[in-house]
Amino acid sequence: MPSTSVEPCTFALFGALGDLALRKLFPALYQLDRAELLHDDTRILALAREAGTPQQHLANIEEHLRLFVAKAQIEEATLSRFLARIAYVHVDFMNEADYVNLAEQIGPAEQVIAYFATPAAVYGAICENLHKVGLADRCRVVLEKPIGHDLASSRRVNDAVAQYFPENRTYRIDHYLGKETVQNLIALRFANSLFETQWNQNYISHVEITVAEEVGIEGRWGYFDKAGQLRDMIQNHLLQLLCLIAMDPPADLSADSIRDEKVKVLKALAPISAEGLTTQVVRGQYIAGYSQGKAVPGYLEEENSNTQSDTETFVALRADIRNWRWAGVPFYLRTGKRMPQKLSQIVIHFKEPQHYIFAPEQRLQISNKLIIRLQPDEGISLRVMTKEQGLDKGMQLRSGPLQLNFSDTYRSARIPDAYERLLLEVMQGNQNLFVRKDEIEYAWKWCDQLIAGWKKSGDAPKPYAAGSWGPMSSIALITRDGRSWYGDI
Ligand code: BG6
Repeated sequence: MPSTSVEPCTFALFGALGDLALRKLFPALYQLDRAELLHDDTRILALAREAGTPQQHLANIEEHLRLFVAKAQIEEATLSRFLARIAYVHVDFMNEADYVNLAEQIGPAEQVIAYFATPAAVYGAICENLHKVGLADRCRVVLEKPIGHDLASSRRVNDAVAQYFPENRTYRIDHYLGKETVQNLIALRFANSLFETQWNQNYISHVEITVAEEVGIEGRWGYFDKAGQLRDMIQNHLLQLLCLIAMDPPADLSADSIRDEKVKVLKALAPISAEGLTTQVVRGQYIAGYSQGKAVPGYLEEENSNTQSDTETFVALRADIRNWRWAGVPFYLRTGKRMPQKLSQIVIHFKEPQHYIFAPEQRLQISNKLIIRLQPDEGISLRVMTKEQGLDKGMQLRSGPLQLNFSDTYRSARIPDAYERLLLEVMQGNQNLFVRKDEIEYAWKWCDQLIAGWKKSGDAPKPYAAGSWGPMSSIALITRDGRSWYGDI
């Protein structure tokens, strides 16, 4: 196999037997190998502290690969080559002696990528131990979310890592940034002069960002109940999407140019007042209902649940950005578990034409919408106004789509999983798709005020039936402003 332009490295995967590693990271590394994007000399060290023999663990990894990679993409020769790259090493993350053993497995000149698929509480200890055995200086660290559960705890984690790793070797994951369609937001906005001239409060009335999931908690109650939907989804994925839509054009595509612009947006987010908590934010928790026609339990009846929990599984809110470009343009964000379908979508609603010449009763329908489907059915659709066809129709207007569906248009290309892109970028040393420390901190700062407000009010989340679009008050949230959520009711 030809070596690629990607430098060789030793990929040290901490937490190699965890759910994330087995479901996402090994399959992503396999796909990179399959696409010949791993250097011949790249090795993978699977690090974990579970009991069992290396052979058993490697067999487990292979079994999961066969489960999580689509059958058609399992090529036996590539799989053997890939598995031959992996060595299992027993490492207790807190035990320095195990790192001495680890260091002995890594040649003196090898570039190391240390991926922490572990709880953030041990990031500091891993970094310190990597430093003690002399690996830190030639190592990039990759940190999984969640980094902390509020501003103070995220600072503690970031500071612990920063003692040994400078920012330019720290890669904080938000896997949404690795999605092809999310990267496409940059292309759509800045490679087309058509949109950028309209991208402001003069032409846009409001923006909707929906990230809905059909699944419930899926055995993750222990983690999720301490987090809730605001920390799990809004603090990171939805605010990152908001930043990519709202930011000013960066001077270039370098990591810091893009991140500087995103930070400006986060700094401009208006805090939500105590009154705003009741009028512009809705928290929900699902109760029993139906998903794909099958009865499903409520959040409080899920496996290992605590029947008293008031953790939210749904959030809808109106965010306002206090700057010249977006003054008076609300961003409606909505995300929840156990929604009717999996759907991540951004809808940009343009304002009506300034001078209106059509029949007054048609006025309400008139507005262009740019719909960006992030998943599934990735694509872009621009709703434009046209005249109804037919002699009997007069100048009756209707809205129709100009459509770009990525899978139809680019038939040959498989849409890579976000982690494939992100792992490749780390190996290439590109930080564009990773989150800088200050971005995480401003996002936490904004979310912390909401969490504090909820705590103070003591209000329980509003119930919604599994399989619905959330509590009725999330519909009222937007109708109060004379609008409705696009297309889902
Ligand atoms: C993760 C959250 O970050 O994103 C999960 O912790 C959520 O709760 C997941 O299910 C959604 O990711 P995706 O790529 O399936 O939209």
